[in-house]
Amino acid sequence: MPVIGPLSFALEVPSLEEGIAFYTDAGLAAVQDGNRVDLRCADQERPCITLLGGFARKRLHHIALRADGLAQIAEDVPAAGGMVVHAPEGFDAGGLWVTDPHGMLFHLVALPAEEPLPAAEPFAINAPGRIVRNRRSAILPARAYAPAKPLRLGHMLCFSPDVLASVRFVTEGLGMALADQAQDVIAFTCARKNSDHHVLAFAKSPGIGFHHASFQVNDPDEVGRSGRALVDRAGRGDWGFGRHTIGSNFFHYIQDPWGSWFEYYADMDFIDDHALWTPTNYAMEDSLASWGPKLPEDFVHNYEVSEAFAPRDVAPAS
Ligand SMILES: [Fe+2]
Repeated sequence: MPVIGPLSFALEVPSLEEGIAFYTDAGLAAVQDGNRVDLRCADQERPCITLLGGFARKRLHHIALRADGLAQIAEDVPAAGGMVVHAPEGFDAGGLWVTDPHGMLFHLVALPAEEPLPAAEPFAINAPGRIVRNRRSAILPARAYAPAKPLRLGHMLCFSPDVLASVRFVTEGLGMALADQAQDVIAFTCARKNSDHHVLAFAKSPGIGFHHASFQVNDPDEVGRSGRALVDRAGRGDWGFGRHTIGSNFFHYIQDPWGSWFEYYADMDFIDDHALWTPTNYAMEDSLASWGPKLPEDFVHNYEVSEAFAPRDVAPAS
């Protein structure tokens, strides 16, 4: 069972200060070491974001995934259109570094599955014929709520010039599985066992790039409340509160300092055994949301693509 779940992502960015301010406002904890910042969810030991400072513009450095069976992955990657490469300078040489057919860099790290989160209070609502809350308010005054504290990194979405080739790479090379797709424009992949509906997704664009990472919070109210607070602090664009069709999660996206997005989510579909799941190919009208506000004009704009774009230099491992 190769890829087991999400681990982290790394971005090259122009300003570490802006990145620290944005992600700490989002509820993550930052540790800076020179030109590098690691960010993690408050109750987790491992960083889920690494920012590398001093670059002219934002650019995806790599995606890291929990995996086992690294030897099998190394064997499968070339036939899936990828390449096993050396670790980039300054990064852990352990695990397995590979590139996909478009030059996107992945780090497969031999780690077991994440410990399940502690059980949260059920999100119960009064429904017709089913009253679960009586003589008390569901919502407290705003000051009663602590600032957002994301629980874990749930998934990442990257741009790809050929979404179906990216899916083929992660399914045949990394052992992931197709959860659902909308034509050849967007596709969602998961681990084969005990996985959120999507761990890694791809959206069509002229080049590769980082679109968003999504962080789990407890319930829909936390998505809405945390999203609103981050929009107010960041002063940039947002999309939400809404609910996706594909994956079913409640969402609120807030634009980061470089035009990509941070998502809070709750209540995503779960796939315990992909062999018992049937992927759906959705119409484009279902690809974004079941409901929610109007989409920001640049929501799917890939700011990493320009005339200056060139695939990363990587050294083949053999
Ligand atoms: Fe998402």
